Amino acid sequence: MRRLVIVGTQWGDEGKGKITDYLAQNADLVVRYQGGNNAGHTVVFDGKKYSLHLLPSGILNPKIDNVMANGMVINPKAFVEEISKVSDFSLHISDRAHVVLPYHLELDKAYEALKGSKNIGTTHKGIGPTYTDKSSRIGMRVSTFIHEERFRSSLYELIREKNIELGLLKHPLLNFEAIYNEYSVYAKVMAPYVTDTSLYLNQAIESDKKILFEGAQGVLLCLDHGTYPFVTSSSPTASSVPLNTGIAPWLVEGAIGVTKAYTTRVGSGPMPSEIHSELASHIRTVGNEFGTTTGRPRRIGWLDTVILRHTKRVSGLSYLAVTLLDVLTGIDELKIAISYTLDGVEIDRIPAEIEDFERCIPNYITMPGWHEDITQVKSYDDLPINAKNYLFRIVELVGVPIGMFSVGPDRNQTIMVKNIF
Ligand code: IMP
Repeated sequence: MRRLVIVGTQWGDEGKGKITDYLAQNADLVVRYQGGNNAGHTVVFDGKKYSLHLLPSGILNPKIDNVMANGMVINPKAFVEEISKVSDFSLHISDRAHVVLPYHLELDKAYEALKGSKNIGTTHKGIGPTYTDKSSRIGMRVSTFIHEERFRSSLYELIREKNIELGLLKHPLLNFEAIYNEYSVYAKVMAPYVTDTSLYLNQAIESDKKILFEGAQGVLLCLDHGTYPFVTSSSPTASSVPLNTGIAPWLVEGAIGVTKAYTTRVGSGPMPSEIHSELASHIRTVGNEFGTTTGRPRRIGWLDTVILRHTKRVSGLSYLAVTLLDVLTGIDELKIAISYTLDGVEIDRIPAEIEDFERCIPNYITMPGWHEDITQVKSYDDLPINAKNYLFRIVELVGVPIGMFSVGPDRNQTIMVKNIF
């Protein structure tokens, strides 16, 4: 395949950055197509650990061209901070992407506070309010942001309006001059990278370039197909790539679904296979399950194949990349959720109503675990029989072949099973 999407199959944090970094060794371009700096992709490069939030994971490799496409929301301050930490890179930013401005962050915090215990548990990065403005047709696009006069006049009007909203929410108001002075400097840093990335990508496709589309978050956080309202405000599915990048749907050749060997979730909302025993803190410690963006401890659960079948259906998945398999080493018995029981009836779907999803009780199969150290294995055949059986069961239950798996954070701990890209 020459154009492959990397999709998070669960609630995000599946290890997409590492998989992108690995596959990017064969890529010409890496494209981020949705979300903003709510994402957190950890990439180890030349023995150094990088936490990327906004920039595509190919940014550390000078041979790769990187694109931030129209479906993204870009915080200019975060962009300038992140770009200052990398050197020798190639980057193109869509003139149609939307800009996250300080009032979006304030509104994110204010609305979360208003919801109290019923909050979504957002990353407070202003993502929801920025996409809201995009839909309400009062957003600011990158093309306006880098235009000195248009930026000034739009910002003036928008801050005037947003201060009325913030006042109603009893939130501190924003100062136009201070924000303008600070953000016009960021606009100058961003301007040289801005272009029509749809044109750029289509030309790259015509030149037969190999492209990785790097999803952020996970399909269960999709605004349409996720566990609404406990979702982000964009679509991390493979099916959203054409819209969010400006290419034809048939140009996307396949999707690799990155799947943890178990399940995690940050933020609020139901998680049927959540583990509440001591085992959760064991997995959290071994897997270092703390948010890259917010540092929050992640909730831990058993692998849930109702979720994976849902993701396969709504997004499309050609292969699975199973990550963090090594974290399960040493656990005597492993459970896999295969269906739910809702009000006494067995179901194989995620109910639309969150109150119904909350009442879903998972039905499990149990499999024997393994105790052998697997962090040095180099092939599927090297795995202990119980680990092989665990992976094989996943393939059977989800109906998607495993293309690769990983047994540790380093690039050489990622093992290809199929030659997919
Ligand atoms: P928002 O994207 O900041 O609006 O947050 C909405 C929900 O998505 C919250 O539950 C967040 O914890 C979750 N979320 C957003 N980005 C990520 C991510 O990259 N990994 C995991 N969860 C995320």
